[in-house]
Amino acid sequence: MKKNHEYFERAKRFLVGGVNSPVRAFRSVGGEPPIISHAKGARLYDVEGTEYIDFVSSWGAAILGHAREEIVDSVARAARDGLSFGASCDAEATLAELVLSAFRGADKARFTSSGTEAVMTAVRLTRGVTGREKLVKFSGCYHGHSDAVLLKGGSGAAQFSAYDGIPTGVARDTLVAEFNDTQGIERLFETHGHEIAAVILELVPCNMGVVLPDAGFLKEVERLCKKSGALLIADEVITGFRFGFFGVQKLYGITPDITTLGKIIGGGMPVGALVGRSEIMNCLAPEGRVYQAGTLSGNPLAMCAGIAQLSILKNDPSVYKTLSALSAYLNDGLKQAVKTSNKSVFLNAKESLHTLFFGASDASDFSSASKCSVAVENLSPESACSDVVKDFSSASKCSASAYAEYFGKMFGAGFYLPPSQFEACFLSAAHTKEDVNIYLQAVKRNLS
Ligand SMILES: Cc1ncc(COP(=O)(O)O)c(C=O)c1O
Repeated sequence: MKKNHEYFERAKRFLVGGVNSPVRAFRSVGGEPPIISHAKGARLYDVEGTEYIDFVSSWGAAILGHAREEIVDSVARAARDGLSFGASCDAEATLAELVLSAFRGADKARFTSSGTEAVMTAVRLTRGVTGREKLVKFSGCYHGHSDAVLLKGGSGAAQFSAYDGIPTGVARDTLVAEFNDTQGIERLFETHGHEIAAVILELVPCNMGVVLPDAGFLKEVERLCKKSGALLIADEVITGFRFGFFGVQKLYGITPDITTLGKIIGGGMPVGALVGRSEIMNCLAPEGRVYQAGTLSGNPLAMCAGIAQLSILKNDPSVYKTLSALSAYLNDGLKQAVKTSNKSVFLNAKESLHTLFFGASDASDFSSASKCSVAVENLSPESACSDVVKDFSSASKCSASAYAEYFGKMFGAGFYLPPSQFEACFLSAAHTKEDVNIYLQAVKRNLS
């Protein structure tokens, strides 16, 4: 049987770094990535036949697990009718209606082929609507790889301190603030309020690892936008439909002007979307003068996958209920593991999303913090954010090498975790209590 190594060597001959998305190359954690042959439920299988319990879940898209039958059947049926029309199909309006039913105050949608494109379009739209040029983003939040939002980006971009190819002019128009720093964002608005077209943020950042928003911080951002006439873009590419048939904005009482979506709404196929009020969305072409288009936008296979996934999420209330209960069980277990660990380790979790952050072995970077810290929020945002890892600056102090060591042990034991500290682990509805117990045992073993 050919080994992962041989497949990866071949990939490196033909693909840059052997991959099509940088984090997959395992540069942060060392070693070689597995080459996946197939996936089912909560399991991934590589070309050597090794089975992994998957806590990446296609970065959240596979909320129902991999290769869920109803979704696969729906895509297969659609495929027989044609892969791409270059013209409209009815499934586009059906998916739009489903998505919009979950967002109060959003009347119109535009589908793209990725979250990156959705954000890129949202940013252009805010500039077109307001006639202003500056964009505010938060360090450690990741919004895809378009020029305007990549600066101080989380996720894979967090491994790089500078990115070539972004024009200085674009960089000058992106103002970067620290997440959870209310005074910092207030200062930015005092100086630039009249020039700011939009603020974009992940309401619960997941791309610097999971970080919980401080009570009041999100409300203050919303207030500042309203006061200055800037638009608020909630990037819910990860959090949309993650905690229930709604966006996380509902849990925090935030009403953004535009919401960007991806991942879950595509059921595993390439999809992104932006949704918002008609008066804003109608500034897009063909109604308005802000141009955006896509050969594969509204692709029939992608639309059908999204419809199948969202229909299950909408019509079977047991899915979110079970996922919530399993998440609470997992997070309790993780709390215990962190509290009894002799390592410097910090847990941030929001329901089915969690990150274990590792301090340096002597915890010197967090000298004022206790050796371990736990910040877990279930559905209602009642608890305060972590006093340890609460922004990109604190996340960046965590030890990449300690995470890499932990990752290596977990990977060797058959768990596929995010191959970088600056990511979330995703629980899916296909994980079982037994999977979670096996995972917790391994976490405990490797934290001691
Ligand atoms: C919050 C957020 N926004 C945007 C994106 C970009 O989405 P895509 O990778 O589909 O381009 C991502 C990707 O992980 C994301 O997490």
